[in-house]
Amino acid sequence: MKKLKENKLISAIIFIPLLILSIFIILHIFDKQTDVPNVYTDVQEWGKYAGININIKTEEADNYSTSISTPITSSDYVNDFIEQWLVAEEDRFLVDLNRLSNRLTDDMMAHFNIQLEIDQLTADIYNLIFTTFTYLGESSGEHTTKVFTLDLANDHIFELTEIINLDDEKVFNKFQKIVNKVIKNDEQIVESIDVSSFERSLNEYEQLEWSIHEDQLTLHLHATEVSSDTKDTVELDIPLEKLTTVVDKQIVQDFDLTVIDEKIEEERKQAQLEKERKQKEKEKEAEKEDQSSIDTDADEAVDDDGKYVALTFDDGPSGTVTPEILHILNEFDAVATFFMLGIQVDYYPELAAEVASQGHEIANHTQNHMNLTTVRNDVARQEIALSREKIEEATGETPHLVRPPYGAYDNATINLASENDETLILWSVDPDDWKHRNPRTIERNVLQAVRPGSIILLHDIYESTAEALPNILEELKKQGYTFVTVSQLMEQEDMAAMKVIRGQ
Ligand code: NI
Repeated sequence: MKKLKENKLISAIIFIPLLILSIFIILHIFDKQTDVPNVYTDVQEWGKYAGININIKTEEADNYSTSISTPITSSDYVNDFIEQWLVAEEDRFLVDLNRLSNRLTDDMMAHFNIQLEIDQLTADIYNLIFTTFTYLGESSGEHTTKVFTLDLANDHIFELTEIINLDDEKVFNKFQKIVNKVIKNDEQIVESIDVSSFERSLNEYEQLEWSIHEDQLTLHLHATEVSSDTKDTVELDIPLEKLTTVVDKQIVQDFDLTVIDEKIEEERKQAQLEKERKQKEKEKEAEKEDQSSIDTDADEAVDDDGKYVALTFDDGPSGTVTPEILHILNEFDAVATFFMLGIQVDYYPELAAEVASQGHEIANHTQNHMNLTTVRNDVARQEIALSREKIEEATGETPHLVRPPYGAYDNATINLASENDETLILWSVDPDDWKHRNPRTIERNVLQAVRPGSIILLHDIYESTAEALPNILEELKKQGYTFVTVSQLMEQEDMAAMKVIRGQ
């Protein structure tokens, strides 16, 4: 009996610590699984743009992915300043993700992208425009803009008050008047912002996001600042010719800005109006004469000399600009190709369907506008597939053309596209309409570069692009061009066998 008791005691002495140890190990493993998700981080040197190196850091976890573009300039001060801001932005996303992760379902990943646009004014002066896209499971994500306007040679980041001395009450009042006038004359802007909230945010001018370009000052207003019904930023372009009396003279020189004298500009406009009036008179007379020969005119339209051109519109559909562009295309009886983003189709499915129903070609610009060459292959595949599904759902059509964001592709991207019999479409004419928010500049850039077989890159998200369109269509029509979709162009120009198509 005693021996048996002893045995039990020995078993207990061995067994109990073993039990505790195994519980500890199990808990530890479990703990590791929940607290430390699998996160893959990758930093790639994207290369140099306008003299500034860009690194893209991508991170992939089980329920989110991030992609952050970091500029590496020649100024350590600027680099540190921007790096601090980028880190704070990413932290904010991760905190929000923790708070809102219950909103995400299993097949939905959160996304956080910071993209960088670089606008160089002189050798040392740049606008670095960061667009942050945050997706945390709402119907559509949120875009915000942050701009750093900087002088690399002097380690300096500019304040708006250095460009226009708004601390001076007289100057501020003048500036306010000018801006209000610009707003009133722009139907689109009047519709998309609440004027009184805008006035409030103008009073807090230190908080405004702004960038200055060769011929305009742009205010990047966040939707919440101006109580707009969109979740995007609203861009208000103020032509520098309107700001001649308030903009700092030294800045105009240092920044190499084009400030046109208002009087000269006014005369130029009058001359243009007069020209248009005469043109219309002429057309009316010609119409009268042609009344009897309408039939032969119709024949002429078919009998063109093979000058085809494909207009393409990226990054939409946009609730404000896309309907305008549809209207203009319709007026000119022109077709185009719309490379849509899945997240935008999510937001405007009916608009996507409307574009398709008007005979335009619907094509795929991916779900979230990520650089496909910097994400894992399965993420890139999902970026193309998700958007394709969204487009099919909304329009009933399957897109066969894919335009990779930023025109960035590699062999893996080509292979992904061929998995679904899709063709990668780039472009041959890029008027930089995202950069020059000036209809005249966009028009000039297109007309200078266009040739038969061209694929023209435009964006149906900028008001200035819509404004440039009528003149572009009119002039190209005059030059004998026929507007076709990219698929039609591929047939006409015998490009169907190519895997990546840029146009002529
Ligand atoms: Ni794009």
